[in-house]
Amino acid sequence: MVMTAASRLRDGFGRPIGDLRLSVTDRCNLRCVYCIPEETPEFQPRHELLSFEEMDRLVGCFVRLGVTKIRLTGGEPLLRRQLDRLVAKIAARPQIRDIALTTNATRLRDQLDGLVAAGLRRINISLDTLRSDRFRRMTQRTGLDTVLEGIHLAQASGLSPVKVNVVTMRGFNDDEFVDFGRFARRTGAIVRFIEFMPLEAGDVWSRKLLVPGAEVRQALSAWRELVPLDPTHNAETAERFRFADGRGEIGIIAPVTRPFCGACNRARLTADGKLLTCLFAHEEVDLKTPMRSGARDADVEDLIAGAWRRKEPGHLINSPTFVRPKRTMSAIGG
Ligand code: GTP
Ligand code: 5AD
Ligand code: SF4
Repeated sequence: MVMTAASRLRDGFGRPIGDLRLSVTDRCNLRCVYCIPEETPEFQPRHELLSFEEMDRLVGCFVRLGVTKIRLTGGEPLLRRQLDRLVAKIAARPQIRDIALTTNATRLRDQLDGLVAAGLRRINISLDTLRSDRFRRMTQRTGLDTVLEGIHLAQASGLSPVKVNVVTMRGFNDDEFVDFGRFARRTGAIVRFIEFMPLEAGDVWSRKLLVPGAEVRQALSAWRELVPLDPTHNAETAERFRFADGRGEIGIIAPVTRPFCGACNRARLTADGKLLTCLFAHEEVDLKTPMRSGARDADVEDLIAGAWRRKEPGHLINSPTFVRPKRTMSAIGG
C-alpha cells in the first residue's frame, strides 16, 4: 500500500506517526551526571533485548503505519556488536528516507566504516564539554580526545550533517557556550544545546540546574549575530540558527521552557521491545511478548496503532502534577 498523508496513522490530536527512535541497548560505558549518575546501574538482562531480526520485523510494522525516519539510539548503541547489520536491514527499506545514529562516539572509530558502508548517512554525537577535567566530572569517565577524534572521523567519512549534542547544566558547562560556538564555526559540526530534562537515574534534576535555552541563545548572540533558520521539517526538536557571516550553525533544544510536543511525530521502541508514545509516557505497550508468542504483523500493527491513537498531548514537566516516568532516558532511548 502506498502511504499518503491521509492514510498515515494519526493520534487523537491529529499528529501523524513519522519518526521511530529505536533503542538497541540500555547499557552505556559513560556515567553522565544528567543520565546515569550512579556507578552500578541495573541494566536489562541480555535475553530481554530484541534481536536485530526482531527489530527489523517491528520496523516493518512501523513503516507500514507511516514511519519514514529511524533513529538508532541507546544507552550507547555502539555497545551492541555489529550494529552495521541492523543499519543495512533498515537502509534496505525504500520507505525509510532518513536513518541516523545518536552516540557518545567513544566506540565509533572501529565501527564507522562498516556503518557508512551499511547505509548510515548522518550522526549525532553527545559531547557536553570541551575541557578534559570537566569531561571527567560530567561523564565520570575519561575519553574527551576519543570523542573529538570520533567527530573528526565522522566528518571525514562523509556523514553529513554531523551534529553535536550538548546537555547544558548550571555549574557544569554553562560557561562554554561561546567555546562551543567557536567549535561549530571551526569544525562545521552543528552544535545543539539541550535543556536538562528530569529523566536521569537518581534524583539530580532541579530547576536550579536547568539552563534555559533562551539564555544560551542570548550568550551566543552577544558574542556574534545569529540568524534564525527554517526548520528542516515540522517535527524538529531544535530551533536552528546560523552565524550572520554564514560560518557555523547552532541549535537550541528547549523541551522544558519551550516544549515542542504539539508537533511531535516520535514513537519510541525500547531495547526490550516496549513501545512508548512519549519520552514521559507512563504506559508501555509490550510488542516483544506478542511477537515472540506468534502474533502476526497485522496484530502487532494493531497494537502500535492503538497506542499511537492514545498518545499523550505532551509532557507535564511544568505542571504541579508532574510524575516522572519509571524508565530513565538511558532505558528509553534519548
Ligand atoms: P535530528 O533528527 O537530527 O534533529 O535529531 P533529534 O533532535 O530528533 O535527535 P537527537 O537524538 O539528537 O536528540 C537530541 C535531544 O533532543 C535528545 O537528547 C532529547 O534531549 C531531545 N529530544 C529528542 N526527541 C525528543 C522528544 O520527543 N521529546 C523531548 N522532550 N525531547 C526530545
Ligand atoms: N536531559 C536532556 N538530554 C539528555 N540526554 C540524556 N539524558 C538527558 C536528560 N536528562 C541526551 C544525551 C544525548 C541524547 C541521546 O540524550 O546527551 O545527546
Ligand atoms: Fe513528544 Fe513526549 Fe517529547 Fe513532547 S515530551 S515532544 S510528546 S515525546
